[in-house]
Amino acid sequence: MSSGWIVPSEGTIQPHTLVVDRIGTLVTNDPALGDGPLGLLRDAAVIVEGSRIAWVGPASGAPAADERLDAAGRCVMPGFVDSHTHLVFDGDRAEEFAARMSGQAYAAGGIRTTVAATRAASDVRLAENVVRLAKEALAAGTTTLEVKSGYGLTVRDEERSLRAASTVTDETTFLGAHVVPAEFADRPDSYVELVAGPMLDACAPHARWADVFCERGAFDADATRHILSAAAAKGLGIRLHGNQLGPGPGVQLAVEFGAASVDHCTYLTEHDYSALSSSSTVATLLPGAEFSTRSPYPDARRLLDAGVTVALASDCNPGSSYTTNLPFCIAVAVREMGMTCEEAVWAATAGGARALRRTDIGTLTTGSQADLIVLDASSYLHLAYRPGVPITATVLRRGRTEGRRGAE
Ligand code: NIG
Ligand code: FE
Repeated sequence: MSSGWIVPSEGTIQPHTLVVDRIGTLVTNDPALGDGPLGLLRDAAVIVEGSRIAWVGPASGAPAADERLDAAGRCVMPGFVDSHTHLVFDGDRAEEFAARMSGQAYAAGGIRTTVAATRAASDVRLAENVVRLAKEALAAGTTTLEVKSGYGLTVRDEERSLRAASTVTDETTFLGAHVVPAEFADRPDSYVELVAGPMLDACAPHARWADVFCERGAFDADATRHILSAAAAKGLGIRLHGNQLGPGPGVQLAVEFGAASVDHCTYLTEHDYSALSSSSTVATLLPGAEFSTRSPYPDARRLLDAGVTVALASDCNPGSSYTTNLPFCIAVAVREMGMTCEEAVWAATAGGARALRRTDIGTLTTGSQADLIVLDASSYLHLAYRPGVPITATVLRRGRTEGRRGAE
């Protein structure tokens, strides 16, 4: 048993209970529980029992608990669900970033630089890097992470990348189809066969999802369809990188495959908006990528107005978006992409959960996983209003205090 459990004198094991009280504003993300789309409750309390939420309501009615966390009038909200990261890699590409800021364009080929560094890294080194970045994300409030492979691009390196990812999450994604590696440059079809065959066979036991970078310079519609069909036949869930660098078939393929999410969605046509709006595929927007590649932002407003479910994620990777910080992504989404503060907060929590097809995270309701953030602010608005300021005071993940900065 984890230390989240206690054994009372009569010998029966009971979950430890914690009350988080004096919450100024509670974001539940459940409109049935409170006001507006974020289900806001004032002067609220939450009871955590073991790793789950046992009770949510007005502070005056809160049942007794073993322990107390005084929110002191601050805002409490669900932990961030970062549904798109590439945390398994070695090295960085700061020089490439600097060159880009001096006018060079972003190209998918930069991925190969990280592939070389990743192949040269030991298993321990890769796992250490993943853990370091997961801790960094947690400190900023991220309690669930999806982590992709994609910088190994051999059977062995993709498999060990997924093993490294598994040290921090069950939401692991096989991205052998990230780019065609240099040694296959003159026979890309053979690489597609490798990905859809032996590489998938080795990686599927370590992955929940499969993803393809469907883009000019990476994988075209035929290759994407071939790889996704093989992955689906192995029982993996489908997600896709699509329409990041230009218009293309990504969104249509994602909808065709019933993908949980299509990610980037920067260059969409009329047809893409309408396909998404009549599908259950989430559009995951990654403002860190447009920020760090100085590219146009996706039109979040248009997606939302078309009724598409939108998630926000970090895309953390050493090339196009080296940030784990979802408050930063929220601030950019509000400032640059036409999202309201409420839409952005929802998209980085409940939206991320939808993109991972999870119903146990992203909300603070009875029965959901006890993943929550106490902000060092009275309102969630401060996430966008105070850009760059670390306002995550305390983070609870599965009911356990993971980070605390002066929130007593
Ligand atoms: O999501 N688009 C493909 N993959 C990453 C970029 C990876 C890299 O440049 O290393 C992305 O932006
Ligand atoms: Fe990505």
